[in-house]
Amino acid sequence: MSTVSLARFNFNDYRVLDNETLNERIRKAKQQLGSRLLILGHHYQQDEVIEHADLRGDSLQLSQMAAERDCDYIVFCGVHFMAETADIVANRPDRLEARGGKRVTVVLPDLAAGCSMADMAAIEQVENAWDDLGELIDTNDITPVTYINSAASLKAFCGKHGGIVCTSSNAEQVIRWAFERTSRVFFFPDQHLGRNTSLKMGMTNEQMPVWDPYADSNGGNSADAILNSKVVLWKGHCSVHQMFRKEHVAAFRQQIPGIKILVHPECPQEVNDIADLSGSTGYIIRTVKSAPAGSKWAIGTELHLVNRLKKEHPEQEIHFLSPVMCMCATMYRIDLAHLCWSLENLIAGVPVNVIEVDPETSRWSLVALERMLELKGG
Ligand code: 13P
Ligand code: SF4
Repeated sequence: MSTVSLARFNFNDYRVLDNETLNERIRKAKQQLGSRLLILGHHYQQDEVIEHADLRGDSLQLSQMAAERDCDYIVFCGVHFMAETADIVANRPDRLEARGGKRVTVVLPDLAAGCSMADMAAIEQVENAWDDLGELIDTNDITPVTYINSAASLKAFCGKHGGIVCTSSNAEQVIRWAFERTSRVFFFPDQHLGRNTSLKMGMTNEQMPVWDPYADSNGGNSADAILNSKVVLWKGHCSVHQMFRKEHVAAFRQQIPGIKILVHPECPQEVNDIADLSGSTGYIIRTVKSAPAGSKWAIGTELHLVNRLKKEHPEQEIHFLSPVMCMCATMYRIDLAHLCWSLENLIAGVPVNVIEVDPETSRWSLVALERMLELKGG
């Protein structure tokens, strides 16, 4: 849920400002708000925005930071589901009590910064699928696992049904946790992360039917396919990572001997299977950072991160894995003008684009998020 309050300042006045002015005003606003403000930035943000982030990270790191840091305002340079998660963990009951009931205000500078993958699973569809699954198998023996890239309502669904949240950093650990409790997993909304992780854990494609929420019955599967399943995968994907192809991998290997292919597990199986390494954005950054000079990489993840790695590591040869420049258009919605506008409205005491999840959804989402955050090394 998002609250749009009346802004003191009109956004149109910010559109026309140049970057130098915006940078200066953002720095001034940050100084004025001091330690009351925490700006979090996801690695896919554009350079000019991420430079203003107090902390940057992948989805798991950002949720941990929001849970741990004390402040009055979190301005989230990322996408909607991340801001929702920050609101839930920063305003959990023990933190609220310690703050005398005062909420942390979470702001998403542009409300249009959503996630097309998260939009591929609506709560009504997930609930219908759960009911349909229940016609064939005992749902007490299925753990629902939602990728953090999902609406808070899906996280709440998982909380209510003994389930858990995962990120791309801990999907394997989370799926292992689920199999300690039940003999099946229902994984949504990213089929690729679910499939790539489960294959790595020894499951086969035959054990992973894909549930199409638009199919007439059984998500488009035979009853036998569901009865024989270990992991039921939701038919969702990331529009950015689905652009990478095995032909791109082959072309780089042919052109540049010794090149290593490093991808995000949101990539399709055909790419993930033949890559040299696969992991979250945090893992991709750590891998490049710790590689010796002269290393050669073709990296399959969001364009802004790959370009930043290129700039930060001139001693290495870094390529973007696809010939098509695929970037996350919704992450890109956050720009200096929106950041400046949201900070100056905060100072004026009129927060704009506040993300506040309703109490019931928060309560149950927190159950699923805490199960994840409590995993050791998660
Ligand atoms: P991570 O931050 O877990 O690497 O996920 C990437 C992503 O798609 C965020 O939207
Ligand atoms: Fe969503 Fe993909 Fe963008 Fe991540 S990169 S926010 S999964 S659309």
